[in-house]
Amino acid sequence: MKDFSREEIDYVLDTAEKLEPVARGEKRSRLLDGKIVSLLFFEPSTRTRLSFEVAARRLGGQVLNLGSVEASSVMKGENLADTIRVISKYSDLIVLRHPLDGSARMAAEFTSVPLINGGDGSINHPTQTFLDLYTIRRESHLEGLKIAMAGDLKYGRTVHSLCHALSLYGAEMTFVSPPELRMPSEIVRVLRKQNIRVKETESLEEIIGDIDVLYMTRVQKERFPDPVEYEKVKNKLKVTGDLLKAAAPGLKVLHPLPRVNEISPDVDETPHACYFEQAFYGVPIRMALLALTIGVIE
Ligand code: NCD
Repeated sequence: MKDFSREEIDYVLDTAEKLEPVARGEKRSRLLDGKIVSLLFFEPSTRTRLSFEVAARRLGGQVLNLGSVEASSVMKGENLADTIRVISKYSDLIVLRHPLDGSARMAAEFTSVPLINGGDGSINHPTQTFLDLYTIRRESHLEGLKIAMAGDLKYGRTVHSLCHALSLYGAEMTFVSPPELRMPSEIVRVLRKQNIRVKETESLEEIIGDIDVLYMTRVQKERFPDPVEYEKVKNKLKVTGDLLKAAAPGLKVLHPLPRVNEISPDVDETPHACYFEQAFYGVPIRMALLALTIGVIE
């Protein structure tokens, strides 16, 4: 996200808004006619991979999918640099998801076509942030926003990217987590230096009445070095219908998904639930990112 100014982010959001009827299948587009998008996912993904695929197809483009890592030459010991060098000769753009921190930045050195980061380790998930911002703009408001981010703030890459972007809009941020999963102190320090109001707490009850958006996250089991540590913290925070009785009527609950048990199913039927619509907004956002990055719109 640090590659983007606020003006550039707004431009991507405006472009996504124009493409939304295409994302909904109400209008047709051939913007990516003749273009091939490669999806290289070295970690599990449902929404990011499929919404990129839908975005490319709805714009008339083709998709090349590496498929499972087990079925590719990665299993023969091929390194990421060589994979990227070759796939960039087969396609017009690459989307990469990889478990290593900094992998997308590294891969960008070896590609001859644009490369989009679909999530690198616990560090960044910029396209998720774009769709989160789009959701907040559509369903709440970016200006003067009071947001709480809750759950695994230590390993969750979505919140790391989101903090940076929201600092450009002057949002007030509350971080809710058990002490073991606090937002990295370096991120908090940078936000405070930008004069962003940041609060940290362990309790959802304490803050639920005073926010516009609650951004819940999953405890990132796969990133814990010690499974015992995961067991200790996995059920510490939960959003329930009961908790939301104390919320402002306009409060929106977001979640990048997948959820495990941090949002109880009784929340789904309340007007606060926004996470499934949020997952849909990944389509217009990724259409805008593909079209702008390949350069078929300016
Ligand atoms: C997130 C991710 O991969 O970081 N998922 C997603 O892309 N929607 C969040 C998560 O896995 O918990």
